Amino acid sequence: MTNKNQTLGEFIIENQKSHQYSSGELSSLINSIRLAAKVVNFQVNKAGLVDIIGDSNTINTQGEEQQKLDFYANDIFINALRNRNIVCGIASEEEEDFISINSLDECNNNKYVVLIDPLDGSSNIDVNVSVGTIFSIYKRVSETGTKVELKDFLQKGNKQVAAGYIIYGTSTMLVYTTGFGVNGFTLNPAIGSFYLSHPEIKFPEKGNIYSINEGNYLQFPKGVKKYIKYCQDETNKVAYTSRYIGSLVSDFHRNMIKGGIYMYPNTSKNINGKLRLLYECNPIAFICEQAGGVAIDGSSRILDVNPKSLHQRIPFYCGSPSMVKKLKSLMINN
Ligand code: AHG
Ligand code: MN
Ligand code: MN
Repeated sequence: MTNKNQTLGEFIIENQKSHQYSSGELSSLINSIRLAAKVVNFQVNKAGLVDIIGDSNTINTQGEEQQKLDFYANDIFINALRNRNIVCGIASEEEEDFISINSLDECNNNKYVVLIDPLDGSSNIDVNVSVGTIFSIYKRVSETGTKVELKDFLQKGNKQVAAGYIIYGTSTMLVYTTGFGVNGFTLNPAIGSFYLSHPEIKFPEKGNIYSINEGNYLQFPKGVKKYIKYCQDETNKVAYTSRYIGSLVSDFHRNMIKGGIYMYPNTSKNINGKLRLLYECNPIAFICEQAGGVAIDGSSRILDVNPKSLHQRIPFYCGSPSMVKKLKSLMINN
């Protein structure tokens, strides 16, 4: 039963009580993410006021410019998780290697690892466009009490215990799943609490929004080009429309609420696509499926892909089931 006046804190406790997770560890973990999200939200909101925006003149592990808030959000989330001693390892898009929180001086028996894209869509910060945070949670596969290993992070997406995102938009929302549907909470900035505003979110079966960076059109695989032309065909019964923000979280969120498809194909420049399997595609795919949507790499289910490296990229297509089905049929027959 959902109660719209419920705060995220109350919702977490209630779900723990209803035995969705066996110990309080996952609840504490989600609570820490909730707190870190509020801190990052505060900074994102005042980004235009202080000298915190702009490039930091460094490049991240994948060679992209890091914005100052990327650093900041990375530190906030890592410190929130480390200081509260509730995970055994963290991997971040902004860190070259994973972080073990089982070093001798910080020995713990925690069983969860977190993978995070601390600031998604960061090129949008300077121009006051929505950005987000994406997180993904797994149970470690190596022995508890020992140092985490790479294999704890390179698990298939279908092993995720929870995943979610925070969207710092016209309002700030935290949307997450623990494998029992998707719920969205909106921050009331006056009180500082997240309230259940979008219970049991479901993807519309059909939609009319397609989201893709069409600037790369000439480099797209044939099937994707055909799909775009299909959407633009005036003889269509459905009047499709194009919407692309350039923040995966924001584009996905809109499509999940209104019905649509998000596409980031492989291109001749990015032969494996641009998005990261572990920090972006797996968590979004988990949420997508839990909301009744479909997420594929062009032919196969994203959640069944066997990860090979931490910063691996993959082509990504997700959204309303009938739209992804149509796209897939055009991709497979090309
Ligand atoms: P990040 O800011 O974490 O590097 O992610 C940016 C990603 C994603 O959010 C977005 O959908 C995509 O990059 C946009 O890429 P293009 O500018 O190539 O369209
Ligand atoms: Mn990102
Ligand atoms: Mn990022």
